[in-house]
Amino acid sequence: MDGRFLNRIAVSAVLSAAVLATCVFAARSTVPDTAPARPAFSLPGLEPVPIAPLMAQANVQRGGATVRQVCAQCHALAGGAAENAGPPLAGVAGRGVASCTGYTYSAALRQHAGQHWTDQMLADWLMAPARFAPGTRMSLTGIPDPAQRADVIAFLHTLGGQAAPAQAGCTP
Ligand code: HEC
Repeated sequence: MDGRFLNRIAVSAVLSAAVLATCVFAARSTVPDTAPARPAFSLPGLEPVPIAPLMAQANVQRGGATVRQVCAQCHALAGGAAENAGPPLAGVAGRGVASCTGYTYSAALRQHAGQHWTDQMLADWLMAPARFAPGTRMSLTGIPDPAQRADVIAFLHTLGGQAAPAQAGCTP
């Protein structure tokens, strides 16, 4: 290897570095390297809101219509019918999360076991189940409208049914 050859290698290395530096500089100055001040998109209504004020105006009839139309596809509303995609909803308001021994919950929902279904918990869950418990098997996108969530929760309160949860082994 003679000196000229080494020279050439050195020169090409320096030139490559210079070109690279120019590219990086050009890229940085065209595309600013800063996070946007505001998120690029927002999902209206998809922030958890305190549900208590809305419960005061909740409409049980409207909630009942929604539950029968949407939730009853997968949930038994009365009785401890075990053959459903979801656990029985009778007595669910106030009950322990993932507490029906006759039902196999996802690991995602079992993470919340030990807590109870308060109105606020139900509201946050029903807003976006997959956000409340990522990996849940409840494949419902959610109820974006907080007033509609309050209606549904008000109706869930009417599904007392002591016998039903006992049959399905759900603990209050
Ligand atoms: C596509 C079927 C499906 C629909 C529709 C559905 N659910 Fe569910 N739900 C499930 C499944 C499955 C689970 C169990 C989730 C898990 O284990 O991750 C569940 C769990 C629940 C739980 C937790 C119960 C417990 O014992 O801890 C509540 C509360 C609930 N659903 C309420 C509702 C309400 C209210 C609606 C209607 C707005 C609804 N679900 C609609 C399938 C559904």
